[in-house]
Amino acid sequence: MVPASLALAVLPEAAEGPLRILARPAAPGRFDLLLGDATGRTVGLLEGLVFRPLPRAAVLAPLVPAWEEAPDAPAEPRPALVWAAPRAAPADLPALLAELAGQAAAARPDRPLWVVTRDATGSDPVQAALWGAAAALPHELGEAWGGILDLLPGADPPAAPPAGPERNLRLGPDGRLHCLRLRRATLPEGRATGWGTVLVTGALGGIGRHLLPALAARGTARLLLLNRRAAPLPDPGIPVETEIADLADGAAVEAALSRFAARGLRPDSVLHLAGVADGCVLARQTPARLAEVTGAKAMGAWHLHRLTRDLPILRFVMFSSLSATLGVPGQAAYGAANAFLEGLARARRAEGLPALALAWGAWEGAGMAKTLAGRVAAMPRAEAIAAGLALAEDPAAGPVALLAALDWAAHAAAVPSAHRLLSALLPAPAVPAPQAGLPRQLETAGSRAERHRLLREALAAIAAELLQGPPPPPGRSLFDAGFDSLMAMDLADAAGRALGRELPATLLYDAPSLDALAAALLGPEEALSEEPDMARILALSDEEIAAELEARFAAEAGHG
Ligand SMILES: NC(=O)c1ccc[n+]([C@@H]2O[C@H](COP(=O)([O-])OP(=O)(O)OC[C@H]3O[C@@H](n4cnc5c(N)ncnc54)[C@H](OP(=O)(O)O)[C@@H]3O)[C@@H](O)[C@H]2O)c1
Repeated sequence: MVPASLALAVLPEAAEGPLRILARPAAPGRFDLLLGDATGRTVGLLEGLVFRPLPRAAVLAPLVPAWEEAPDAPAEPRPALVWAAPRAAPADLPALLAELAGQAAAARPDRPLWVVTRDATGSDPVQAALWGAAAALPHELGEAWGGILDLLPGADPPAAPPAGPERNLRLGPDGRLHCLRLRRATLPEGRATGWGTVLVTGALGGIGRHLLPALAARGTARLLLLNRRAAPLPDPGIPVETEIADLADGAAVEAALSRFAARGLRPDSVLHLAGVADGCVLARQTPARLAEVTGAKAMGAWHLHRLTRDLPILRFVMFSSLSATLGVPGQAAYGAANAFLEGLARARRAEGLPALALAWGAWEGAGMAKTLAGRVAAMPRAEAIAAGLALAEDPAAGPVALLAALDWAAHAAAVPSAHRLLSALLPAPAVPAPQAGLPRQLETAGSRAERHRLLREALAAIAAELLQGPPPPPGRSLFDAGFDSLMAMDLADAAGRALGRELPATLLYDAPSLDALAAALLGPEEALSEEPDMARILALSDEEIAAELEARFAAEAGHG
């Protein structure tokens, strides 16, 4: 939150040294601050300080996938190329992706491709990988892309792909259709404890090098690195042991873990960073390239999962990417590998095993960001590491969380196919002035009761627009109904425009329900205004201001 507006600031004296601040919440989201110097003498007053949230793009806030009931759509069957993906084992993922690539090559705008998966959004990581590959297809196929429909266990396949504009859907056993949305989540406080001995893959990469010292600083006892080559690393300040293995090769990973075990080294936590980016549209992929892109990341994760599942693992964290959900053209195989991690995280959680897939946006100056650069804003490295570790340390986080420093509104504007997915992150549409000619209607209304009703209805329309739902009951506080300080200001602004007069931003704090607001707006202008009497204040001498502040300070202190 940042300060947004202030009703009154009186700072009659220059104070030296540190200030004491006595803050009193005056109303929800509004504070009065009395400033005292080190001796306790009052030196200033800030009254009616209102906070509003930081502009959203500036905050590295986690997002989580969520499912919303899909809006009803007319069931008009359209021609489509429907591919029902077969179930497959992790080792067959490249072959499955090659099949999808063949379907993508055959899709046409008059016969768009619909992919039907089974439990991709639940706990089948291989099916999840198809979902991740499909995320790139709106970009790669354009009009030739239909959508993806996941059938949850027990769901019957529909006769035809769903009509309507939603493209990322899942069908439950109850026949109800849901569409994917990204929603904001809160960043937990990291607990900086309990990692034990951490097995890290991809430690030599752009992110790994910076993550190791941060892990050391958060109570990691020892690092076990699984690299595919020997190379020096800066000393992270805790013991480091290294084994060499190609993560795509299950036997090599098993042998490397056995060598660690023979030296008495067993992981308490796993941090899987290894991976390679892609760079080829899916329809032109080769089996060898699909195997390479999915090898280290998806197969590596699978091998680590099966080889550590009988150990008492505390944390199992895998680095995924936004590409698994938002899709990046030329990165379908990379999206698939990342989505595999997310499916594996859900599968592990379903088995009661710890797991978190952290899907990152681009990191500032790090490794793969160079490949993806230009499409996404980069995250400051230190902030990204702190946020990622805080999520990893929170048992309530996940199994999938997305972290990116993106201006979502700008992204949705630039990438229309992402608009629905991001709709919950976009600012509410501009609030229209309700009922043009409201002042005239009020003027001609026969009674105060009629004017009250007209005003209440106009305010209810604004509140409903801001809440994106039905208006709250007239007597209920809008703050209880979901308003925040920003919405309170938007309501004052919209009501002011409808009435053709400026209203204080703090309007709602004084009259928090629709009924109270309408009554306040009907009352005399002076009763509405919280503005201080500036003429009186300006006429006061410095001594009189100091005396007045002293009295208020004493009164506030008395309130405790
Ligand atoms: N950088 C970003 O902006 C960004 C954004 C989203 C997600 N991520 C994810 O974060 C993770 C780390 O990214 P990064 O930027 O640090 O990537 P990076 O610089 O490309 O490093 C990747 C690491 O993986 C290792 N690796 C690749 N194939 C391997 C194999 N078959 N066996 C063993 N190790 C293998 C590489 O080893 P060598 O050193 O031998 O090549 C390298 O150390 C990746 O999983 C990436 O997908 C990164």
